Amino acid sequence: MTNSPFVPTTLGRLTLKNRFIRSATWDGMGFNDGSFSPAQVELFRNLSLGGAGLLTSGFIAVTPQGRRNREQNMLCENQHVQSLRKIVEVVKREEVALFAQLVHCGGYASTETSNLPIVAPGDNQEPIFEEKPQALTENQIKEVITQFAEAAARAREAGCDGVQIHAAHGYLVSQFLSPCTNQRTDNYGGNPENRARFLNEVYEKVRNYVGTDFTVTIKINGSDYFKNGLECAESIKITQQLAEIGLDGVEVSGGNPISIPLTPIPKEIKACDNEVPFKNEVFAFTESLSIPVAAVAGIRSLEMIEKLIAKGVSLISLCRPLICEPDLINQWQAGREEPSRCTSCNRCFIPAFKGKGIKCNKKTA
Ligand SMILES: Cc1cc2nc3c(=O)[nH]c(=O)nc-3n(C[C@H](O)[C@H](O)[C@H](O)COP(=O)(O)O)c2cc1C
Repeated sequence: MTNSPFVPTTLGRLTLKNRFIRSATWDGMGFNDGSFSPAQVELFRNLSLGGAGLLTSGFIAVTPQGRRNREQNMLCENQHVQSLRKIVEVVKREEVALFAQLVHCGGYASTETSNLPIVAPGDNQEPIFEEKPQALTENQIKEVITQFAEAAARAREAGCDGVQIHAAHGYLVSQFLSPCTNQRTDNYGGNPENRARFLNEVYEKVRNYVGTDFTVTIKINGSDYFKNGLECAESIKITQQLAEIGLDGVEVSGGNPISIPLTPIPKEIKACDNEVPFKNEVFAFTESLSIPVAAVAGIRSLEMIEKLIAKGVSLISLCRPLICEPDLINQWQAGREEPSRCTSCNRCFIPAFKGKGIKCNKKTA
């Protein structure tokens, strides 16, 4: 078997032209009403020329109450579908696949953005929450599950090739999975089976709405990296059970914004030095699961990518390296040996927070 990432690979019913994914990336360019903007169409046009076989959207809120900021896209109305179709059109021209990543930010959403109360599994105030949330009732949980399924159906209607359910990084699904943030005493909290119920029901309803010929994956924390958080063995078991009922693939991430030093967007990664900080979890997933596993976070060199593939990792997900050099994958395929020039400084967020969209903003010496 070849360890080259530049060979076609399957994910669900899809055949991707290679093993590279552009991982979900909020770009700070969505319109305030949640629609995709012409700047985002341009961004995706460029990304589709950059060499990755699959592009993932930024995290798209399934309902206004689950939204974190005004530049975040939504997928809960017809106008959102129309605007997403324009992204699909430019990506499809290059025979690249496109997934919509679906999220409800839960307690990590923003009241200032939505003018609605913040909701979470419980009413406990967590450090990453802006304020004390309201605990979701069972009826509200069912509504959110339906919102995920409706958003997935809209992604399909817009022409996407699949959806990725965002179950990582401290957002609502992750809040349910984590013993720390889920202190419910009903069917949705307590033991591992109950904490996984929300994700299971989201997956089942999404699958029910999109059918079996549409690809559905999750992004999950291999470990939360904080006290009383989700741990690897449990995360694998949750994913295994979903795989048994048709989940097509999993991207293994980790942490939340304050699980320092191992946050989802780890800083100070250097090629061949401390690449792929979640690799132990990624390998544990790969050994236990029969569905494709994607590695994400801190992948910077072809040398490391080949090592990951040799260990059974199917897909290679890159975020900041493609903000830094959108055509990096093409360059690697053409023979470039130098690793990504991304310094993992996270300054790409700075222009986005000023309303100008993500852009590599690294200090040059
Ligand atoms: C600007 C920016 C926006 C991001 N937006 C998302 C997002 O919408 N959804 C998500 O799951 N991860 C998001 N991430 C995390 C990335 O998908 C990825 O997991 C992380 O950056 C580590 O990969 P990297 O080292 O290749 O950047 C974002 C990261 C950055 C830098």
